[in-house]
Amino acid sequence: MMDTKIQAFFADKQDLLSEILERYPDYGQRSAVMPLLRAVQDAERHVSELRIKEIADILGISATAVKGVMSFYSTYHEQPVGKYHIQICSTLSCSLAGSDEMYDYLANELDLVNGETDKDGQFSLQKVECLGSCTTAPVLQINDDYYENVGKKRCKHLVDSMRENKLEKPWRERKGDHEGAEKAKPLQKTALKGVS
Ligand code: FES
Repeated sequence: MMDTKIQAFFADKQDLLSEILERYPDYGQRSAVMPLLRAVQDAERHVSELRIKEIADILGISATAVKGVMSFYSTYHEQPVGKYHIQICSTLSCSLAGSDEMYDYLANELDLVNGETDKDGQFSLQKVECLGSCTTAPVLQINDDYYENVGKKRCKHLVDSMRENKLEKPWRERKGDHEGAEKAKPLQKTALKGVS
């Protein structure tokens, strides 16, 4: 009979577990919840109920407490996300700069709706609140990287690169624009009537 028991995530990662726990004093071990969640999320693209329980047991806290931390951050997911997890900022600055149109474009192009992952596990799409980079709106986050001033051309360019499994590095890291991506448009200044 096939053994259906799933091995604990940290069973064969005792060195990693020790390294994480040693970062915190005995009285503050529960602070290790974030790096433990991160280790699981990075490896499995989500943190299942089983893993939540495992982390809770390691730290001597309840599974509800672990879920409480997870629910506060868009980084952690209870269901698997895609190899390319695309988060679109939908807060005011990005919305005014065109993130709604960008979402529509991506949803149509990838045939996904907010919160969905495709059946191949390649793409997932999620609307999120302010990513903290409002001056470079509209902003996309793909996995851990920010892509700023993303217009339609850049969006298309990014989708093409992900489809080829060659995701472009953020243009800021490459110190500028590149072929296939339009220049960022300067923000338009709105005249304020009655203000001197
Ligand atoms: S509103 Fe989009 S990054 Fe702040």
